[in-house]
Amino acid sequence: MASTPPPKPAATRKLHPVPIRVMHWINAVAMLVMITSGWGIYDDYVIISGLHFSHTFRLGSWAAESLMWHFAGMWFLVLNGLAYLIYGVFTGRFRERLLPIRIGELVQTVKDTLHFHIAHEDLTHYNAVQKLLYIVVIVAGISQVVTGLAIWKPVQLSFLVPLFGGFQGARIVHFWGMVVIVGFLVVHVALAVLVPRTIWAMLAGGPRVGDRPRANKVTP
Ligand code: HEM
Repeated sequence: MASTPPPKPAATRKLHPVPIRVMHWINAVAMLVMITSGWGIYDDYVIISGLHFSHTFRLGSWAAESLMWHFAGMWFLVLNGLAYLIYGVFTGRFRERLLPIRIGELVQTVKDTLHFHIAHEDLTHYNAVQKLLYIVVIVAGISQVVTGLAIWKPVQLSFLVPLFGGFQGARIVHFWGMVVIVGFLVVHVALAVLVPRTIWAMLAGGPRVGDRPRANKVTP
């Protein structure tokens, strides 16, 4: 007796649901505020001697003003980031979109990219490099918040400071976290501009996808 094929998952939700889109763009603005105001604060007490950030790219006309921007932006970054982490874990989005990362696929994607074979026809699937970069930037964001807290309240939150080998260690990790995030942003925005459909999808939601985790096929 011929068995009936399993029913296709219903295409009931968009690739980027409304909460993801709202949180993504709040995060983008908050990150830009944090980076540019951070550059304003950094200049007061540099980490790499000789490295200064141009006034053109600094938010705040002097360090104290930049610091106020940094604290204001921090609330948006932290609350929005927490919401994104909770949403990503409890809806299964992280598991569905960012995992698993297979070494073979990672190597192949790097090879393809080096040969300029960058295809992103199927918006519903992140390639292994994209997955890895998203995970790295999420971890970098968490690290920025923890090191930022250690620098901001080294007395009240003194248990955080030794995790980074002291106050100066926390400053250095905070600085390199910024470098990782800025590096990510350069690649991320360049790729988004190269494939503008992805930007439109992050604004309007993109194609509809099946309801089951890992149901990655676009439905017509
Ligand atoms: C400011 C300019 C930005 C633009 C134009 C932009 C654009 C995009 C686009 C188009 C996607 C969807 C990618 C795809 O479907 O292939 C995306 C996803 C993502 N972006 Fe951005 N982005 C920006 C800023 C940021 C920042 C500042 C961060 C973090 C530091 C970030 C982190 C992410 C993450 C983690 C995802 C995956 C989200 C998920 O699927 O849950 N983006 N971005």
